[in-house]
Amino acid sequence: MADGFNVKLARSGKEVFVPAGSTILFTLLDAGIHVPFSCGSGMCGTCETDVLAGEPEHRDFVLSESERNANDVMMICCSLAKTEELELDL
Ligand code: FES
Repeated sequence: MADGFNVKLARSGKEVFVPAGSTILFTLLDAGIHVPFSCGSGMCGTCETDVLAGEPEHRDFVLSESERNANDVMMICCSLAKTEELELDL
């Protein structure tokens, strides 16, 4: 999305706005929400997160083509959103 996108965290009920140029991971860490990560660049799979709603823009090197097309998980360190909002299982 041009200006950024919204992320709803289903388990905590929190919501964050990820501005263009940032990532979901950094936005969550900035908001004091701890999520597991390691490489920060879409290589390791540590930050894999279930997607409950919305469509991710996959930018990782971990998921297979069929996993990308299923749109039910994403790497939040590098992948963004094609929709205005994503709902994640966090
Ligand atoms: S932290 Fe390694 S893929 Fe996201």
